[in-house]
Amino acid sequence: MARRKKIYEGKAKTLYEGPEPGTLVQYFKDDATANNAEKHGVIEGKGVLNNRLSEFFMTGLGHIGVPTHFIKRLNMREQLIRAVEIIPLEVIVRNYAAGSMAKRLGMEEGTMLPRPIVEFSYKDDALGDPLVPEEYIIALGWASQQDLDDIVALALRVNDFMSGVMYGVGIKLIDFKIEVGRQFDGDFQRLIVADEISPDSCRLWDMETGQKLDKDVFRRDLGNLADAYTEVARRLGVLPTNTAPMGKPTLIN
Ligand SMILES: Nc1ncnc2c1ncn2[C@@H]1O[C@H](COP(=O)(O)OP(=O)(O)OP(=O)(O)O)[C@@H](O)[C@H]1O
Ligand SMILES: [Mg+2]
Repeated sequence: MARRKKIYEGKAKTLYEGPEPGTLVQYFKDDATANNAEKHGVIEGKGVLNNRLSEFFMTGLGHIGVPTHFIKRLNMREQLIRAVEIIPLEVIVRNYAAGSMAKRLGMEEGTMLPRPIVEFSYKDDALGDPLVPEEYIIALGWASQQDLDDIVALALRVNDFMSGVMYGVGIKLIDFKIEVGRQFDGDFQRLIVADEISPDSCRLWDMETGQKLDKDVFRRDLGNLADAYTEVARRLGVLPTNTAPMGKPTLIN
């Protein structure tokens, strides 16, 4: 069998050439990194869970008319996606203060914000993905004012959807990040949600207990990451079929 072409190997995912032009295969690895790759671990089953969860969220977004790169899931660890030109920004939406925002402003984590805040950081591991003002983004030509307006509108729609879905299963969506890409159709471009939406890219707290169900479990050594992600998948009714307990073998006559 011919070996397929690897396009990019990232920290959590690998991209391969897709079966048709304009498509890619996205493979979800079990690797976890934190603090821009300073900390690394392999968490068995994480890739399978994230593949399923990203499929679940992107499909739901599609159903409410938010364009995403997701085409279809291929197997346990892979999905077929539309190839886009990634805008080199992490688009972050915050509903409650946490992480770098809480640190920078000396706020207590979990403080509710008066409204969702959208911020941008420049995707560059070596620089630690620094926060960048819109003015920089426009002046440096990474995106136009119109693009940014569209990206903010897209991010807020994703936030409303994700907040509602999580609320329904007793989870508070503290914050999340998405990546946005350009899809070209002749002279026109469309901005669509790309990369992944999973507990790797969200902060999720149990509504009752405040228990963290996201990558902070790994970043801060709070327990078993796969257990936390499994809990999210279980509540959403999204569990990989073959991790169900296998009863005893049954004899067929
Ligand atoms: N639809 C898409 N088309 C093209 N590239 C994509 C698409 N979706 C995601 N990507 C890119 O694929 C890579 C996914 O790999 P991964 O997230 O593991 O990378 P990473 O190590 O986090 O590096 P990066 O800092 O670039 O995200 C990212 O660079 C992401 O921007
Ligand atoms: Mg990434």
